[in-house]
This record gives sequence, structure tokens and C-alpha cells, in this order.
Amino acid sequence: MEIFTRVVALQNYLANYRKNHVNSILGFVPTMGALHEGHMSLIQNAVEKSDLIVASIFVNPTQFNNQNDLKTYPSSVEKDQKLLEENGCNILFLPEVEEIYTSEYSSEDYEIDFEGIDEVMEGLYRPGHFRGVAMVVERFFQIVQPDLAFFGRKDFQQVAIIKQMVKYKGIKVDIEVVPTKRNNDGLALSSRNQLLNAEQLKHALTLNQTLCYLRSVFDNLTIDELEEEGRKRIDNGKLRLEYISIVDDVTLRFPQSKNSKITCCVAAYCGDVRLIDNMPLNY
Ligand code: PAF
Repeated sequence: MEIFTRVVALQNYLANYRKNHVNSILGFVPTMGALHEGHMSLIQNAVEKSDLIVASIFVNPTQFNNQNDLKTYPSSVEKDQKLLEENGCNILFLPEVEEIYTSEYSSEDYEIDFEGIDEVMEGLYRPGHFRGVAMVVERFFQIVQPDLAFFGRKDFQQVAIIKQMVKYKGIKVDIEVVPTKRNNDGLALSSRNQLLNAEQLKHALTLNQTLCYLRSVFDNLTIDELEEEGRKRIDNGKLRLEYISIVDDVTLRFPQSKNSKITCCVAAYCGDVRLIDNMPLNY
């Protein structure tokens, strides 16, 4: 696996690759490191669908609205490199902040219209978060110019934001959404799970259990009743619920009917650790 820290060096390498492999498909997997099986399923999907796989590890400061969250975000670069290599990644891009945010690409000047999908759920609790995500992903797309880019469904709203950014900016890239990877107990894999102790890991299972329950009773309850049931089950003294929202997959708003594709999204604190999860309820 080749490792690059500089934009110019990576771009030269990719330009040369493209010259010699005209019809090849370039797959890109952006990450913030602390890699786990969930990321590896993104890499495995990329391996299946692309000829050259570029992954990035960059803990993006502009998407952290909470400085403590940024400081405590887990990091394990050596282990990450090994995992990426073992799973068939060809290139790792490991830039410093100065390589990504330059005077030509500064966060103050960034312009985007999310058409309201940033105003619900995560957007209400993490002001500026999605702007930071869109900005860094666009910057990576400019640098890598991938044909395909892979994102996990676990970050359901993030996927919608990135699709909107791609549409708004007219970027030619296909966004591939990979199903959420869970541990044997059903907990959605997340880099933040490393911050949970053994007891908290058990408490965190309530999220997936609740989502599975709501899915199983979807036909019997109204959307309001489903949300209320979910709220009661998650806010149980062990977890502190931030939000539970049952939304239409396209608008990310309360569904107009039960016929559209509907997903339940949740965010809750387990101790100091903020966890999110989601599940389709009717497909
Ligand atoms: O999902 C993540 O890990 C990050 O939000 C991403 C897409 C790598 C952008 O920093």
C-alpha cells in the first residue's frame, strides 16, 4: 500500500495511474481513522467495485462542534494502516490539516445549500457539523477525483448531506451506501464504542433492540406512537436520549404517509459517549 501525506504527490501518482489505466474505476473511502470492521466493509465493497482503492484518514476539525469530542476522538494510525493493507486498500492518504484547508479552500468561504436537510436531527444538536463534513468531503473529491465513494448507512443523515453536496456542486461521483455493520450483539460498530466500558457496552444494546422492536411493530402503531414507544425504551436511566426521529428517507422529515421509505434515527448518550444508530422500518 502506498502512503501519501501531500496533496501534490497523491495527485501526481493518480494522474499517472489514470494515464496508464484509462478505463479503471477509482474507489474512495474517506475515514477519520480508528478503523474497525465497519470501515473494512466499506473497503471490501470498494475492492469489489473498483480497480484502485484510495482511503483517507483525516480527523476533520471543522466537523467537530465540541472541542472535547475532537480532543478525545480515538486514533490508531499504525493499526489502521495494517487493517487497510490486509483488506486490499491500495493507497492511504494521511494529510495534515494544512494540506486540506489552504487559503484557497478555507472554511469561512464555503458556500452550500442543503435545502433544509441539515436542519433536523444531527443538525439541531451539532451546529456546523454537516457544513464541515460537506466541505472536507468536497475537498477530498477534488483531490482524489474518484468514480465511486463509499459511505456507511450508519451515518444516515450524513449520506443525504453528501448526496446533496454532490448534486449542488455538480460533482461527477457515484455515492455507494454500505449497510451498517453490527457486532454479534447488534451494536452498530463505531470508533466511539472504544470509549465505552463493559457495562456501558451492554447498555448501548438498547439502541439496536429498540430499533428492531419498532420495526417489528411498524404495522400496528402510528408514527407518533412508534416514536413515543422508542423514546420510553431508550431514555431508560442508563442511556440519555437526545432524539428519536422517524423520517421519510427523502425529506428526512416526519413521514406524510406510511407508504414512503421510512427510517428511525436515534442519538443517545451512554455515559459521556454520544452514539447514533438508525434502521429502516418498512423496507
Ligand atoms: O464519517 C466520517 O468518518 C466522516 O464524517 C467523513 C465522511 C470521513 C468526513 O470527515
